[in-house]
Amino acid sequence: MTAVEAPHTPRVRRVLLIVGGGIAAYKALELVRLMRKAGLEVKAVLTRSGAEFVTPLSLAALTGSAVRQDLFSSEDETAMGHIELSRWADLIVVAPATAGLLAKAATGAADDLASTTLIATDAPVLLAPAMNVRMWLHPAVQANLATVRAFSEPRYTVVGPDDGEMACGEYGPGRMAEPAAILAAILTHDGKAGSGDRPLAGRHALVTAGPTFEPIDPVRGLTNRSSGKQGYAIAGALARAGARVTLVSGPVGLGTPTGVDRVSVETADQMLAAVEAALPADLAVLTAAVSDWRVADAADRKIKKQPGEGPPTLTLVENPDILKALSRHPDHRPALVIGFAAETGELERRAAAKLETKGCDWIVGNDVSEGVFGADETRVMLFRKGQTPDPWPETTKTAVADRLVHAVAVHFKKEAS
Ligand code: CTP
Repeated sequence: MTAVEAPHTPRVRRVLLIVGGGIAAYKALELVRLMRKAGLEVKAVLTRSGAEFVTPLSLAALTGSAVRQDLFSSEDETAMGHIELSRWADLIVVAPATAGLLAKAATGAADDLASTTLIATDAPVLLAPAMNVRMWLHPAVQANLATVRAFSEPRYTVVGPDDGEMACGEYGPGRMAEPAAILAAILTHDGKAGSGDRPLAGRHALVTAGPTFEPIDPVRGLTNRSSGKQGYAIAGALARAGARVTLVSGPVGLGTPTGVDRVSVETADQMLAAVEAALPADLAVLTAAVSDWRVADAADRKIKKQPGEGPPTLTLVENPDILKALSRHPDHRPALVIGFAAETGELERRAAAKLETKGCDWIVGNDVSEGVFGADETRVMLFRKGQTPDPWPETTKTAVADRLVHAVAVHFKKEAS
């Protein structure tokens, strides 16, 4: 993913790694190896429960530095006090970030070295959560996550967790992001340097992306060729600009951009419900290619060929229009609603008409006549209510995302002044 490509000169050079107590702790060792290989200086704090999974000796050997375990160690404190240690880092990485560590971070509890460091530091914190799927989905865990994400200083971002099979045999979100993905998040992080450079800090942005999948029966469905790349690039760019980002995504094969909360859905109905649940938001960028129709009565068993009867007839009904619903929301219309218009001709006329019919503020008109689906390149034009259309040069989806987020930041700055 472009969102995690390393910049030429990483801003983060010193990482303080906090290793929590979970089975994913073994991956922290690989992470240390990768960080050192990338030229980063690493010191580690091992929690009491983390030490149940990896030894201080392994961490010390890999970091090339003594591992800190106790808050009240006269020897450690003489070498480098815990406050000094917390300020030494450009970035604190918590991997694995367990439910317990997350709770301490959210409440400011300071009953051991790891949690004390988290409230003493002036460095941003990158969390790599890892826990059982039910624990991850528990409202208490999600509330703690929302709490830390809302802090303005120190700034918390999150990488992962991934979907997959867990050590406990269950399946779902909760697996710690792979060490390579965590490293990519570290190398693209702006560390302490980025604190002043976040024009959308304190704003909540809602993004939809990808296709929807409307079932015909348990094995078949209606979908489309949207890759989700444009929406994911926008979600990542909004997060880098400091916004809290909720990404409501249909089924795509993309990793969640750093610092973004992803809600995975399949159908248009589920997408609308997830969008409603994420409100209020300051801005919304709806890039999803929502299926216009769904099958009226999806079969709950696989539809079988019936000899002599010919193919089945599918009755389609209209799906909700999420962009329209959000643009006309009675209670929580975001201050800025941006839609996308994918057209195969007459882009200007159709995009301008869509601005009216949908009721949104901006439309990014996208010419899909020449194989944009799945590609990294795109060609767009920005339509804003009451302004002349602004054609952007053909460019990458990442560049479109950055330019759009810049335009959003300028818009909010103007509104505020
Ligand atoms: N959209 C939506 N919900 C729908 C359909 C579309 O939120 N049910 C949003 C898309 O995310 C996009 C915009 O509306 O931001 C335009 O979608 P598009 O499919 O191009 O427009 P349609 O309404 O389907 O119009 P048309 O059939 O003329 O292409």
